[in-house]
Amino acid sequence: MCGIVGYVGHERALEVLLGGLKRLEYRGYDSAGVAVIDPAGDLHVAKKAGRLSALTDELRAHPIGDGATGIGHTRWATHGGPTDVNAHPHLGDEGRLAVIHNGIIENFAALKEELLAAGETFESETDTEVAAILLGREYRATGDLVEAFRRVVGRLEGAFTILATHQEQPGVVVGARRNSPLVIGLGDGENFLGSDVAAFVEHTRRAVAIGQDQIVTITPESVTVTDFAGESVEVDAFDVAWDASASEKGGWSSFMAKEISEEPEAVANTIRGRIEDGHVSVPELDALGDGVLAGIDRIIIVACGTAAYAGMVGRYAIEKWSRVPVEVDLSHEFRYREPVLTPTTLVISISQSGETMDTLMAVKYAREAGAVAVSVCNTQGATIPRESDAAVYTHAGPEVAVASTKAFVAQITALYLFGLHLARVRGTMSEAQLTAATDELTAIPAKLAQTLKASEVIEPLAKWMADSRAVLFLGRHVGYPIALEGALKLKELAYIHAEGFAAGELKHGPIALIEAGQPVFVVVPSPRGSAEMHKKVVSNIQEIRARGARVIAIAEQGDAAVLPFADEVVAIPLAAPLFEPLLAVIPLQIFAMELAAAKGLDVDQPRNLAKSVTVE
Ligand code: F6R
Repeated sequence: MCGIVGYVGHERALEVLLGGLKRLEYRGYDSAGVAVIDPAGDLHVAKKAGRLSALTDELRAHPIGDGATGIGHTRWATHGGPTDVNAHPHLGDEGRLAVIHNGIIENFAALKEELLAAGETFESETDTEVAAILLGREYRATGDLVEAFRRVVGRLEGAFTILATHQEQPGVVVGARRNSPLVIGLGDGENFLGSDVAAFVEHTRRAVAIGQDQIVTITPESVTVTDFAGESVEVDAFDVAWDASASEKGGWSSFMAKEISEEPEAVANTIRGRIEDGHVSVPELDALGDGVLAGIDRIIIVACGTAAYAGMVGRYAIEKWSRVPVEVDLSHEFRYREPVLTPTTLVISISQSGETMDTLMAVKYAREAGAVAVSVCNTQGATIPRESDAAVYTHAGPEVAVASTKAFVAQITALYLFGLHLARVRGTMSEAQLTAATDELTAIPAKLAQTLKASEVIEPLAKWMADSRAVLFLGRHVGYPIALEGALKLKELAYIHAEGFAAGELKHGPIALIEAGQPVFVVVPSPRGSAEMHKKVVSNIQEIRARGARVIAIAEQGDAAVLPFADEVVAIPLAAPLFEPLLAVIPLQIFAMELAAAKGLDVDQPRNLAKSVTVE
């Protein structure tokens, strides 16, 4: 949601801002705008509802002045619809200053009332304009942008990343953040601000993540960070692990297609350095301190959407291997049920972006209640790992398509590494068992590559099913979360009603949905894991087939038992049962993508969705 870019330096700001906004498009937005200060010291603004191309068309039709200082924004509407007027930047001090913002200013109504009473007027319905007008007044009172900005952010409640620039102080952009992301890009004679590193990675890979309740001031030659009281703050720079080409399509039809193709590499990179000669160790967990993991007596995994399904898969393995009870909760449900948390409760958050507000709030709640918090995250410098006691990074590389694919398999991999590390620390697995499990995990990237190949049969199937009104997904044990994930992918990409069920639940209600021609995907567990579970799922297939369902089975190679009852079989390579979800999800991701493409839909940016859900 909402992408933010700030620039001061020697380049044409407009070009830098538009390039940054283009790279932030993946976050999801419905309007865009820029403000630049020209060499004569005049502020120019352009903003437009719709895609970034609408803004560039507008700039072509009505060019604005350009300079070397500016801010740019993509907006995902919260307060007020996605219109030209509500698009950011918003102006204050009679058009001399511009403000952009991500988040929600919760006390905006009270502030607006105060400003209306003081005679101010507003053009938009946004909470952001309130901050811009307030900043204008403080600037006129102090004559100093940084001091005025500090006063304003001190009065704001809620979650925000906010940037401002004033035409009387060209070469300066100020920013602040609370519960919402902001990263500095360090350049040579130029500096950048961004919602994430994608905003500036084509210019610099040296970055600094701003902490909670901090203010940053950038000029071409300096970067100053303080807290909201104005006290200076020490910051640490880091190197972005990927370059600009990693977030480009590189010849693929969509980012999603590219990211699915990268799944073998995503898993291999997540394992790298954590398994050596059959020995598993996740060094980042050392940050928890001696004895903490050995003393844990309960694990709660918190996450949303696809990440929560990765958590559900992880639960089976972590519990089996470490014998610690594991629950999975949706982040937004977790804190409102007042969970029982103690210093021996470990809360594992999973978030690709590291910025999902619901998950961030769950982590904060857990830590305030005394629990230990570990984050599984894919984004360096993101807020959730910074707010946790330890962070286990997935190394899937940037995920640009809104629908999560490679991050999902990397998240499961990280949870498995965590589970094996925990089992080793607690002595719940023998050396032989640990070696067998690490061997299975290290074999997954090659098996993923084979699965991608085997999934070629999916494309014609998806085309054939493009007119389906509803698709059902069944799975059992670790196949159950995969069924849920298959359904989510289809809903979000192809806008088709889709539901995932635990196969055992079928006869308790969902079987009533089956009628002639109803497509049902069934994730079939390996007969080598549990012959009993396998037999039960094959019986489920027969039951739905008898009622007219068209069955597409995802089954391991050589599973002859499903052949007589399935209309289509996608065969996946043999893997130990706990590792099958990493493979079984691939055909389902491809199915959703191909079906959306067959319907002519935007695979990378489905309607109404944002990649990074930074409001609750
Ligand atoms: C679905 C999808 C979402 C995210 C969810 C959490 O394809 O991508 O369901 O998984 O919004 O996002 P993160 O992992 O960034 O916290």
